[in-house]
Amino acid sequence: MILDHKFDLGFLPTPLHQLKNISEKYAPYNIFIKRDDQTGLASGGNKTRKLEYLIQEALDNGCDTIITAGAQQSNHCRQTAAACAIAKLKCHLLLGGTAPEKFNGNLLLSHLLDAQIHFTGKHRKGEDIDRLKQKLELEGKKPFIVPYGGSNLTGALGFVNAMKELKSQLTAQNLKIDYLFFASSSGGTQAGLTLGNDLHHLNINLIPVGIDKSETQGLSLEEAVLNIVNEGKLLLNIKKEYTLSDVKINNDYNEAGYGVITKNETEAIKELAQNEGIILDPVYTGRAFYAMMDYLNKNKIPKNANVLFWHTGGFPAIFNDAAKMK
Ligand SMILES: Cc1ncc(COP(=O)(O)O)c(C=O)c1O
Repeated sequence: MILDHKFDLGFLPTPLHQLKNISEKYAPYNIFIKRDDQTGLASGGNKTRKLEYLIQEALDNGCDTIITAGAQQSNHCRQTAAACAIAKLKCHLLLGGTAPEKFNGNLLLSHLLDAQIHFTGKHRKGEDIDRLKQKLELEGKKPFIVPYGGSNLTGALGFVNAMKELKSQLTAQNLKIDYLFFASSSGGTQAGLTLGNDLHHLNINLIPVGIDKSETQGLSLEEAVLNIVNEGKLLLNIKKEYTLSDVKINNDYNEAGYGVITKNETEAIKELAQNEGIILDPVYTGRAFYAMMDYLNKNKIPKNANVLFWHTGGFPAIFNDAAKMK
């Protein structure tokens, strides 16, 4: 089966557990968390699941080099660098902006993991990948491109499989989840969760929280997710007609823009840290957790619902934004 063909990188399954103090505070909601901050790859995160399939594809194609792109504090790039270290592949990262005086957070980790870092100014979404690929090919290398955020169908398979993992945990814990909140940014996580939800008949209401409202390669995030879902349904033999309404993203919480830390993210980080001892990140999970808190505070979903927050990681970025989170 296609889903079994992967290069193992993560500590899977990640824990699924109740947030007891938060559930008490937001009663009568029952709130659970899926700990993809514990996937293990150089401090974990959701991209580990995608990279298991992407790295396997690179190895199947006989590649010796990986190229990918992101922001300077990209968790995806840091996990890609770690995956490359394990798989003995050379890693090139194209990161937006100019070289800072000091490296910290994810950027420092990517450097320690021996990624070759190229700073690409305004381009933080892989606009310069093809140019670098051609250059490396002329040098005799065999590069494999991992798209921005690891978000194509290959990467999304990681989250199709994650839904299978969730299903067996729910069965073992005799639990049904009604609503699932998570951060959606380049769309692969959302596409995989959407396909996995249908493939495994979980009937969970997905609430993707938009993190970055800018377009990627001329597509809105919802269009990008729909494209991956439509490609994936053929591969996975899912008989369903998907439309944009099946991949709706809540963009009410990303007004400030990508990576801008407001009092909302800080409040969410403190809420989970101070009640449960779990650390969110300032860019993705802080924003998504804040959205969930807002839904629960305003009773935007039915009372007594079982609500799951998918913690997608991102912890190292906190050290880049320390001053803004006091
Ligand atoms: C911590 C964290 N959460 C969520 C996401 C969003 O995942 P996706 O890009 O698949 O939408 C990212 C992407 O970089 C991330 O680093």
